[in-house]
Amino acid sequence: MQRVVVITGASGGIGAAIASELGRRGDSLVLAARTADALERVAATISSPTRVVTADVTRRADVERLRDQSIATFGRVDVWINNAGKGILRPVLELTDEDLDEMIDVNVKSALYGMQAIVPHFMQRGRGHVINISSFLARVPIASPRSAYSAAKAALNSLTANLRVDLQRAHPDIHVSVVMPGLVTTDFAAHARGSTGPVPPGAIGSPMQPQTAAEVATVVADLIDRPVPEIYTNPASSALATRYFEDVARFEREGQSRSR
Ligand SMILES: NC(=O)c1ccc[n+]([C@@H]2O[C@H](COP(=O)([O-])OP(=O)(O)OC[C@H]3O[C@@H](n4cnc5c(N)ncnc54)[C@H](OP(=O)(O)O)[C@@H]3O)[C@@H](O)[C@H]2O)c1
Repeated sequence: MQRVVVITGASGGIGAAIASELGRRGDSLVLAARTADALERVAATISSPTRVVTADVTRRADVERLRDQSIATFGRVDVWINNAGKGILRPVLELTDEDLDEMIDVNVKSALYGMQAIVPHFMQRGRGHVINISSFLARVPIASPRSAYSAAKAALNSLTANLRVDLQRAHPDIHVSVVMPGLVTTDFAAHARGSTGPVPPGAIGSPMQPQTAAEVATVVADLIDRPVPEIYTNPASSALATRYFEDVARFEREGQSRSR
């Protein structure tokens, strides 16, 4: 069935790849980000009905306008993907108030605004799917220079799980999912707060093989077809998370020797 899908952070990287994959599957799309010309370039490559909305998702009013313009264009929203996000390159002892505030604004409040904007619409319709793009770093904090980002994504995981539980009984056809990619080859590292330029994949010590944005997009598209509460996109993630929770001290010792 053709669905109406809103994707934030769709001007590049994973968001643009999700747009491309869903467009190929025939869904109608609303693409949001701050950079209008980049959004238009992505939209121009998609053959299914697509609307572009310029929005800064750290502003609640922009997110509510995104919802209103999406419904005005397509009559409804079936899936809302909170994908916009930003990293940081700064260890815990050097974090400033501004660092933490920006990580929370762009990675947590943005998604909270999205959930609060769209879930009442889903409740009215009795169905819908919220997908929050988090990170494996929310589950296992294996990259200390990304500290405040890991913390923000961990908060996002908690909000996502709590919303899901709140809706479960009265609204069984509203799905709430969190997606936790590992390393993905986008410009994410170069866009990170405190970054001085592109960071080669693997430079922050992840034991995982990087994935492409297209690989992550396929996982997200399949998730829409078959909703589950949580999903890792990288096949190595599940075993790594299990190992972490089995024995944190051992896991961290092994990480030290890996990064030597
Ligand atoms: N790449 C990775 O290794 C990786 C791993 C795990 C999770 N993730 C997560 O995946 C998501 C996408 O990351 P990516 O790798 O595609 O990064 P990216 O290439 O840097 O793209 C980020 C996207 O978010 C948008 N964005 C940033 N701030 C925004 C704001 N305030 N308002 C609206 N849009 C905003 C950007 O567009 P504008 O600049 O035009 O606004 C861009 O479209 C993020 O949530 C990220 O945390 C990435």
